Amino acid sequence: MRRILSGMQPTGNLHLGNYLGALKNWVKMQRDYECYYCVVDLHAITVPQDPQKLKQAVRETAAAYIAAGIDTNKSTLFVQSAVSAHTELAWILATQTPLGWLNRMTQFKEKSGKNRDLELLGLYAYPVLMAADILIYRATHVPVGEDQKQHLELTRDIAAAFNRSYNSEYFPLPEPQILGEAARVMSLRDGTKKMSKSEESDYSRINLTDDADTIALKFKKAKTDPEPLPDTLAELQKRPEADNLITIYAALTDRSRADVLKEYAGSQFSKFKPALTEVAVAKLAPMTTKMRQLLNDPAEIDQILIRGAEHANTLTQKHLREIKDIIGLWSVM
Ligand code: TRP
Repeated sequence: MRRILSGMQPTGNLHLGNYLGALKNWVKMQRDYECYYCVVDLHAITVPQDPQKLKQAVRETAAAYIAAGIDTNKSTLFVQSAVSAHTELAWILATQTPLGWLNRMTQFKEKSGKNRDLELLGLYAYPVLMAADILIYRATHVPVGEDQKQHLELTRDIAAAFNRSYNSEYFPLPEPQILGEAARVMSLRDGTKKMSKSEESDYSRINLTDDADTIALKFKKAKTDPEPLPDTLAELQKRPEADNLITIYAALTDRSRADVLKEYAGSQFSKFKPALTEVAVAKLAPMTTKMRQLLNDPAEIDQILIRGAEHANTLTQKHLREIKDIIGLWSVM
């Protein structure tokens, strides 16, 4: 059986990069996999959070999953902290994880400051919790972006270490589902930087709550160069801003970049940008509407999340019992 687990941190202001880089593929995977999608609030608190904003961001992120097309009758959508087996397994996996493996994690190195003694255990252990998120479902596949590949490799290493220690084959080694060429959506102001909610200028991104006029304005103002669009991918790659807009168009229309380029080679941006706006609005407007609708009815979101957590708890408690049995932890016979 093929099972997917993936998660995203709760953030307000989800943007086109989140949709095209992750959510769109999650939606597609529902066809072929049993899917579990969570909002990873326990990962979020590895850096300081405002409690009120965090609560709101969790619901907003869940709303975005649904608005993007996660079908909650088919897939399980839940909040990580509502399924306690994640953290219980994280402890167990910590007993299988050498410090040297964690010391190699580039994300920790990037996020941590100069003074090692001030770093928090939670931030350091973040990848172990992520491994537990995945392994508690015995997931076989994990859709991840480039920046999480190392954490998935570590997950495989930890799973293998557990299997070896206990002479079992309990955990499948999860395969990365590396996302297609749409995975990297860049800032509209700088084609070499990822689109991000933390970039100061709102013109750098298309938010999933932007209306049609705002989308049009942002693409109009998006940085480009004076040249018309080239006719080869090789030429395109030398022009990050142009490449980004073509990538976005291709991802929104499920076409390849080469195919889009064939249509627009030689065109000026004054022609291409309105076409891009049109496909973006057509795709995003129904999502935006759905998202607003959901956010106006948080009780509805909560009902969905309660149901998801119940389902996730049933499966993970069963797995946890099996894992405890393998390890020799006490459980009622
Ligand atoms: N660390 C991931 C990120 O920041 C989020 C995450 C947590 C995740 N647990 C996961 C992704 C399990 C995939 C599977 O993007």
